[in-house]
Amino acid sequence: MELGLPDPVRDPSLPARVRIHEVGPRDGLQNEGSLVPVEVKAEFITRLAAAGLRTVEATSFVHPKWVPQLADAEELMPRLAGLTERHSGLRLPVLVPNERGLDRALAHRVTDVAVFASATETFARRNLNRSADEAMDMFAPVVRRATEAGVPVRGYLSMCFGDPWEGPVPQAQVIGFGARLLEMGCTELSLGDTIGTATAGQVTALLDGFAAAGVPVDRLAVHFHDTYGQALANTLAALRAGVTVVDASAGGLGGCPYAKSATGNLATEDLVWMLHGLGIETGVDLAALAAASGWMAGQLGRPSPSRAVRALLGPSGT
Ligand code: HMG
Ligand code: MG
Repeated sequence: MELGLPDPVRDPSLPARVRIHEVGPRDGLQNEGSLVPVEVKAEFITRLAAAGLRTVEATSFVHPKWVPQLADAEELMPRLAGLTERHSGLRLPVLVPNERGLDRALAHRVTDVAVFASATETFARRNLNRSADEAMDMFAPVVRRATEAGVPVRGYLSMCFGDPWEGPVPQAQVIGFGARLLEMGCTELSLGDTIGTATAGQVTALLDGFAAAGVPVDRLAVHFHDTYGQALANTLAALRAGVTVVDASAGGLGGCPYAKSATGNLATEDLVWMLHGLGIETGVDLAALAAASGWMAGQLGRPSPSRAVRALLGPSGT
């Protein structure tokens, strides 16, 4: 595949290396209407790891009725055994909402887990069936027990900018919940623009707010959905503020089943195109990654929404 990427131009104000937290197999697939066979999921993750991604969120141990697409987590994990030995440094995090989810995940000796909180009441109730505070109480023993078991915990915080039911979300509310996740023991906090409404100035302001609250930027990651086409601009704003961990979904797959206005995440290929153009290392082989997304688009029977994938593979995106 001819990439045609122009010579990189470094911007010294940006980080030299970014770790991509790939969420395609989890955030990408969780919203798919038709059930994707478990062997296709395993092959997708295998191809993503082979393309150089070193953090690939594999699945969720949530209630199977809430996210039927990921009800096969128990069947998927054994199919991934051996991948972490084959690719040094590979992490395969999984989402767990509660102790029941943690027990299921620990039985598969996962490398990392993630809890997922909400900065708003409405989304907490819709996504977790309890208030935002009650959700924090549900996560506390998960974080404690996972940490004791030597399994690092990422904390997600959803609706950090706009909420489809509540509108703009006050910054103090976001920083309050985010700080609580870190104090609880989460090693990393991923700030979610779940419905993709944020613009770059809001990203800068929120990251400034976290810095003013004493949260080191190396504890923060960003998670942008691309509903309004702002995800890359928002990512650049986050990089300028010192963020070095960026969530993205191969091929731009995705959405959240409990926030209908959430479309796909920032496409990993679009992100890699920008980062490599800026001379920022990712460890990712872009041609292999686009080929993996094209293969997955073929499995799903529709073209990838990623602009970079379509440019690299042709308009069919497969
Ligand atoms: P609930 O109904 O309140 O659960 O759901 P409960 O604690 O009352 O338990 C009811 C029954 O469910 C019990 O069974 C439990 O054992 C069982 P019973 O005793 O009645 O037979 N149960 C479970 N079974 C299997 N695995 C489990 C589990 N937990 C309870 N883990 C719950 C509460 C949190 C479980 C539910 O609301 C849920 O699973 N929600 C998950 C929603 C979800 O996965 N959303 C998508 C991920 S978040 C996202 O996409 C946003 C993100 O990308 C960032 C961004 O974009 O902003 C991360
Ligand atoms: Mg998401």
